[in-house]
Amino acid sequence: MQISSNKKARAIVWFLLFYWQSIGLPNVFGQPSSLSDGIFTQKQANSGGDLYKAHCSHCHSQDFYQDIEISWAEMSVLDYWYRLRGTMPADNPRSLSDIQYLELLAWVLSVNGYPSGKKPLFAKSYLGLIKFGG
Ligand code: HEC
Repeated sequence: MQISSNKKARAIVWFLLFYWQSIGLPNVFGQPSSLSDGIFTQKQANSGGDLYKAHCSHCHSQDFYQDIEISWAEMSVLDYWYRLRGTMPADNPRSLSDIQYLELLAWVLSVNGYPSGKKPLFAKSYLGLIKFGG
């Protein structure tokens, strides 16, 4: 009994260490690792809102983009950007620039209540580590 609970405790410690490493590592390089870190600027979100009005609002109401943490749970911010960039606007896919798709993403995040921050959103691999519903 005693031994098995020790083993369990040790397993938990190892798990926590690994978990901390996997989520904490990006911070070592000064990159945000969570949606609550403020991963986009307000300026990006504002530009994204203008793009939404011009290119998306005739098919999607703003409500469509909400509850992203449920509908995209376990998927990353990078996945979402790829989806936007590869398939939208449905009547003219890939018609916007990478930067415009980042601005749209920033706007979707702001509509979902995630905070803006000082650093702009970049299309880099760190976005693959930032997941919804985490
Ligand atoms: C011509 C109509 C149309 C336009 C314009 C349009 N969409 Fe869509 N969008 C759709 C349809 C239809 C789907 C569902 C397709 C599917 O998921 O297979 C969709 C799906 C999506 C999804 C996937 C949602 C999810 O949770 O899987 C996102 C995100 C999205 N659109 C964003 C945008 C953005 C951003 C724009 C503007 C750049 C845009 N759409 C413009 C018709 C449109």
